[in-house]
Amino acid sequence: MKDDNFLKENNARHLWHPMGAPGDSLEHPPKIIKSAEGVHITDIDGAEAVDAVGGLWCVNLGYSNEAVKEAIAAQLYELPYYSAFAGTSNPTAIEASYAVREFFAEDGMGRVFFTSGGSDSVETCLRLARQYHRLKGEPTRTKFLSLKKGYHGTHFGGASVNGNNRFRTAYEPLLPGCFHLPSPYTYRNPFNETDPARLAQLIAQAMEDEIAFQGASTIAAFIMEPIQGAGGVIVPHETLMPLLREICDRHGILMISDEVITGFGRTGSWSGARHWGVKPDMMSTAKGITSGYFPVGAALMSEAVAEVFEKADPAEAGIYHGYTYSAHPVGAAAVTACLAETQRLDLKTNAAARGTQLFEGAQKLAKKYGIIGDVRGGQGLMTGIEIVSDPAQKTPMDMATMKRIHQTVYEAGAMVRLGGNNILMSPPLTITQAEVDVILSALDKGFAAA
Ligand SMILES: Cc1ncc(COP(=O)(O)O)c(C=O)c1O
Repeated sequence: MKDDNFLKENNARHLWHPMGAPGDSLEHPPKIIKSAEGVHITDIDGAEAVDAVGGLWCVNLGYSNEAVKEAIAAQLYELPYYSAFAGTSNPTAIEASYAVREFFAEDGMGRVFFTSGGSDSVETCLRLARQYHRLKGEPTRTKFLSLKKGYHGTHFGGASVNGNNRFRTAYEPLLPGCFHLPSPYTYRNPFNETDPARLAQLIAQAMEDEIAFQGASTIAAFIMEPIQGAGGVIVPHETLMPLLREICDRHGILMISDEVITGFGRTGSWSGARHWGVKPDMMSTAKGITSGYFPVGAALMSEAVAEVFEKADPAEAGIYHGYTYSAHPVGAAAVTACLAETQRLDLKTNAAARGTQLFEGAQKLAKKYGIIGDVRGGQGLMTGIEIVSDPAQKTPMDMATMKRIHQTVYEAGAMVRLGGNNILMSPPLTITQAEVDVILSALDKGFAAA
């Protein structure tokens, strides 16, 4: 490894960073994170912080899980790669598919299609949803419904169902036939509705209205995150997902639960859909499936969806879709080890307890600082704090102030993430009570410096 001077000198010079402007990265070089242990990260200057971001909503086990690291290392020596395209398989992929299926059996999932990440998993679900309807003799079902404020990754399919124009505008035109319903965002919505249960009803009505307008026979699937993550941690009322499930059922529309963040315990339940008592038709997963240690995702199909593919004429049911790294043996070894550790440590229980602590702590801060417009969370370790310059008008805080808050919080010992005027937090699910207290006291200092 080159020395620190080389790294600082070349920071952002040759590497374009996702989700940022290249010129901005040159002017304000990103923090170089050099090492990590437990839930702590250390930067190139030796500064240490509790990672309240969990890498990127993914390092559920923290940074020091030996079992996952050893599984990855051992597999690299046994079989570092082989293709899983039809005709060949590998032992770790077979074992991992069994483990993932078991993990999501209670959600009704019956089959696993491995991918390289969340965007891939979403893309797989969207494509297979269209093919499912073709196989059932309804080829006109090609459209997709989704929620505003939703984030479903960066492929053209996922970006087309995304509900935030930040991820869309520069890349338009996107996929035709994608329609968006209002988000369960009580702080700002077109109905001015602050009651979450009532807002859930209004969204359900909007969905019925859109289906009537489009014609149910043209709609393939509806995709939603059980709790919207990147859009600002938007927690719906407990009735929303069941209401929308019932509407999908009535109109023959597949429900895709995008569990890239909410899967594997983050909500306090093993899946977001289970958290709300819903069985989806498909799930897109990634992140916590390997705790971020290896890039893996999985698209999951219910038994009923699987049956349609498995009983159809193979000439029609060929899945002519897949990734070079689908069912990668090293990734698969990481999956099996990660799921075993996730269950052994019962991460969902700690996520629920520490999530409540972080949420309640943020609510206390909201009483102290007028710039906190909204605090969202309380369902596991996903917390969002929305910052406004004028609480009466709900004016989003300017970016210079957001960056000042971010830097002060970091210097006070916690790494948080900015999403527009939101502070987003999703720490490792192994975090302790004392470490959550560090995040809260760092936030306190950050808001004082705003
Ligand atoms: C709900 C959801 N879906 C899809 C994605 C895309 O996943 P990836 O970044 O692994 O492609 C993300 C990423 O944050 C996500 O939060």
